[in-house]
Amino acid sequence: MACEVLSTADGRAKTALSRKYAAEWVASRNGGEPIAVGIGTPPLRPARPEKPALMAPRDVPRRRTGSEAGRIALLHAVAHIELNAVDLHWDIIARFGHIKMPIGFYDDWVKSADEESKHFNLICDCLEDMGSHYGALPAHAGMWRSAEDTAEDIMGRLAVVPMVLEARGLDVTPGMIEIFRKAEATNAVSALEVIYSEEVHHVAYGSKWFHFLCGRHDLDPKDEFHRLVRHYFHGVLKPPFNEEKRAEAGIPPDFYWPLSEETPDRTALGNKASAEIRAK
Ligand SMILES: [Fe+2]
Ligand SMILES: [Fe+2]
Repeated sequence: MACEVLSTADGRAKTALSRKYAAEWVASRNGGEPIAVGIGTPPLRPARPEKPALMAPRDVPRRRTGSEAGRIALLHAVAHIELNAVDLHWDIIARFGHIKMPIGFYDDWVKSADEESKHFNLICDCLEDMGSHYGALPAHAGMWRSAEDTAEDIMGRLAVVPMVLEARGLDVTPGMIEIFRKAEATNAVSALEVIYSEEVHHVAYGSKWFHFLCGRHDLDPKDEFHRLVRHYFHGVLKPPFNEEKRAEAGIPPDFYWPLSEETPDRTALGNKASAEIRAK
């Protein structure tokens, strides 16, 4: 099911399939006969529609959010993030099937994938109401990079995707809501409010399963988090941080503050330590 979602290119089709399979998973769990978790062979990169054209982040034109065109560009970027998030959640299910995890792990990521699918559709509806659509503008290439970098390291995946990238969403979403509130774009405000409230759980699931795996391997969670983010994340973490929501999601300040002022230093040490853990 996860691989099928990953192999579907069109955004609306991908999210429809994602929601259908999420509902089937939940029904099977509630019925007491959960769908068996197998081992999948997900594509290295998920299928994508022909449009939007993907560009290096520095080539994506910046627009002021004081104009309607700027706000459309902002929502377009959010839609692109949500579509990637749908694939990221199905990918963690498919890619790490060989690692034995409690069934709650799958419950959490299926629920997250379902929510990201809803987010994508909500933002696409807003874009269409504004006379645009997903695919009308260029979008960032390289959003799948973190997934590729951590394709063989489940703890690296949890550290970078939910605990860094999705946590960043908690920092920036209130500012975005404010932009659309000022513009009296009520549809966009309510869509972003749904996203803001649901994203906290995705970060929390990341933290929960990261801590679970640290416990399994007898690792110090904070040290391990720092090591993995330094190794896999390209750049430093940018304050201001939403400390309240991060706390709600189970990420304490000593996890992210020490990573905020560092020079990106990708040493060979990270590789070696990672290989050692995988070998354990
Ligand atoms: Fe989302
Ligand atoms: Fe999310």
